[in-house]
Amino acid sequence: MTIAITGASGQLGRLVADQLLAAVDPSEVVLLTRDPARLADLAERGATVRAADFGQPESLPDALAGVDRMLLISTDLVGARLEGHRAAIDAAARAGVQHVAYTSIPEPTQDNPSGVVPDHAATEQALRDSGLAWTMLRNNLYAEMQVGTVEQAAASGQLFTNTGDGGAAYVTRADCAAVAVGVLTGEGHEGREYDVTGPSAVTAADQAALATKLAGRPVDVIDVDDETYAGGLVAAGVPEAFAPLLVSFGASIRLGKLERVTDVVERVGGRKPTALEDLVTVQG
Ligand SMILES: NC(=O)c1ccc[n+]([C@@H]2O[C@H](COP(=O)([O-])OP(=O)(O)OC[C@H]3O[C@@H](n4cnc5c(N)ncnc54)[C@H](OP(=O)(O)O)[C@@H]3O)[C@@H](O)[C@H]2O)c1
Repeated sequence: MTIAITGASGQLGRLVADQLLAAVDPSEVVLLTRDPARLADLAERGATVRAADFGQPESLPDALAGVDRMLLISTDLVGARLEGHRAAIDAAARAGVQHVAYTSIPEPTQDNPSGVVPDHAATEQALRDSGLAWTMLRNNLYAEMQVGTVEQAAASGQLFTNTGDGGAAYVTRADCAAVAVGVLTGEGHEGREYDVTGPSAVTAADQAALATKLAGRPVDVIDVDDETYAGGLVAAGVPEAFAPLLVSFGASIRLGKLERVTDVVERVGGRKPTALEDLVTVQG
């Protein structure tokens, strides 16, 4: 069986590639990326590396030749990636790929204010309509991205948030990768929507408690509304175009859209999920 990973030089892509190369014969692994030179080390381990760019659909037929299963990693072009995702799905169907797993988000529904919902919901729909077998890997927010928040709060003594009492089941990229590998190498995952989560839902109060431990002094939660939060992000150096996306993630958490905890990492990925607390302790 031949298994392809798109976007294999990204942070998640590399982790999936690394775990996949350890799980199957490297001759079965095809790594797709816009820049094959960046994957020379993985080619040396026996993987086939091919050029593929969703923005250049003519690159896709050759890239997908002979592939049986594929992980479609959503690109980082938030708001402008649907066309590319559709091109990849279309090319996979034409190339005879049997099964595509796609990196989505929990609850990609209209009542979820997260700014990435439109792209993911439409890509999921394109995959359902494609005739391909599919698996939705609905990855929660990456735990790694919370480490800076906790460290900053530890340094300043304050944690500004628009998440209210809501929690998020932050999950590490390595745990997301393990689930992807479980799906790509296993059986019975067709037609499944997996919420890929960490071991618990973590609130802002929980993060402040972590920061308090890290700092050795009290860290207070400062609850603010979306507008104030956006202003604070920009004042702290977050690009103005990016701030609304972060605000929308907070609103999504506040509404409970990211708090469901599942056993998918353990059941499908075969490993215990890493807690945010462990990352902060290791990296902090
Ligand atoms: N759950 C979360 O908290 C969270 C956070 C951030 C992002 N995400 C999503 O999860 C994805 C993986 O996360 P990450 O941390 O690995 O992101 P990343 O390191 O920023 O990687 C970006 C990915 O997009 C791919 N890409 C960009 N343009 C492409 C194109 N034209 N054609 C094909 N692939 C393209 C890159 O592939 P190559 O460079 O190898 O071509 C790479 O895999 C992101 O792209 C984003 O959709 C999730």
